[in-house]
Amino acid sequence: MLKATPASIDGPRDAVDPVGVAVVGLGYWGPNLLRVLADKQDAQVRWICDLDHERLEKYGRRYPTAQVTSQLERVIADPDVEAVIIATPVHTHYDLAARTLEAGKHAFVEKPLAPSSELADELAELASERQRVLMCGHTFIYSPPVRTVKRMLEAGTLGDIYFISSSRVNLGLHQRDVSVIWDLGPHDFSILIYWLSEIPTSVRAAGRDSIVKGIADVAFVSLTFASGIIANVELSWLAPTKLRRTVLVGSERMVIYDDGASEPVRLFDRGVVYRDPETFGEYHLSYRSGDILSPTIESYEPLGLELGDFLAAIRAGQEMRFHTALARAVVRIVEAADLSLRNGGQEVPLDYAEIGAQLASRRQLALA
Ligand SMILES: NC(=O)c1ccc[n+]([C@@H]2O[C@H](COP(=O)([O-])OP(=O)(O)OC[C@H]3O[C@@H](n4cnc5c(N)ncnc54)[C@H](O)[C@@H]3O)[C@@H](O)[C@H]2O)c1
Repeated sequence: MLKATPASIDGPRDAVDPVGVAVVGLGYWGPNLLRVLADKQDAQVRWICDLDHERLEKYGRRYPTAQVTSQLERVIADPDVEAVIIATPVHTHYDLAARTLEAGKHAFVEKPLAPSSELADELAELASERQRVLMCGHTFIYSPPVRTVKRMLEAGTLGDIYFISSSRVNLGLHQRDVSVIWDLGPHDFSILIYWLSEIPTSVRAAGRDSIVKGIADVAFVSLTFASGIIANVELSWLAPTKLRRTVLVGSERMVIYDDGASEPVRLFDRGVVYRDPETFGEYHLSYRSGDILSPTIESYEPLGLELGDFLAAIRAGQEMRFHTALARAVVRIVEAADLSLRNGGQEVPLDYAEIGAQLASRRQLALA
């Protein structure tokens, strides 16, 4: 159980004092975090850390004011480092984040938070005990089109949501340590929880390890929500083209969110009108096909807003309860989907205990 935590973490500090940060992991994703942090006035990159010396040398040349090391110990021993940004493979997340929090630093951990729900819960507990900010990199909840859809859902534009269907597929990048569910699933699961303000009650998954034995590279995940909404998420590293497309079908309207498209959100005034039968067995259906609207989407880099939110929470001495709870819920869903896949698609019920309440008590997310 998580302990009750005080509202404030640190006393107020000088708002213009940049947060001393370190970036650990400079593979595919870490350099994006590093670039964004190096541009931010409210952060100062003090260390970069990777086990790979060539990468350290490359980024050390690009960011000469940062010190370089392959050892987390050196990073967390520096009293000027307040926060550590972790972008390493999933199996290292718990160890690196736990050592960071134990050293009294704030931690930003790339998705998924930890390689099991037990370890994700332990990190949350540790952050709470040490009164440190713990955030997980669920970048899509900061993405402009995802936020546009969220606003439509909150305004009731779509009516009651019947179902959601999503495809997140491309050719590669095959991960060596985790299945495609652990790699790509967190994006869709975090978006669904954010949009619906609801966590699924059960999950089923089917998939295949087509290329590397034991590591599923394609998965079809079905989620059931207490409200009756169902969602299907297709995840794959084996596809001829990159596709990130979600369809939301509501009683009033429908939406297509296509992340790579020039018009990433399209709202369709389409649906079916059902009239109760006047005589037994005679019901009437008519199909409505109205306008298609392509709303203007704001333009900003989600990563900048996400890391800005993390730095602001540190400076404001606020916890990120919503984010920590979201990250824990996502790990539970991924874990259950992986279990279902290994058990031939068996339905796995999900139990969140106190996470639901924490998701409900969310602090306002940063706005662009
Ligand atoms: N938010 C997003 O959209 C997004 C996108 C891609 C990846 N990610 C996440 O970022 C993380 C990293 O993914 P990636 O594709 O960049 O992996 P990667 O394998 O390309 O890079 C990982 C790097 O971490 C280094 N590393 C490994 N163990 C280390 C340790 N103990 N100490 C220091 N460095 C260590 C490796 O040498 C490597 O350079 C994963 O959690 C992944 O899920 C997030």
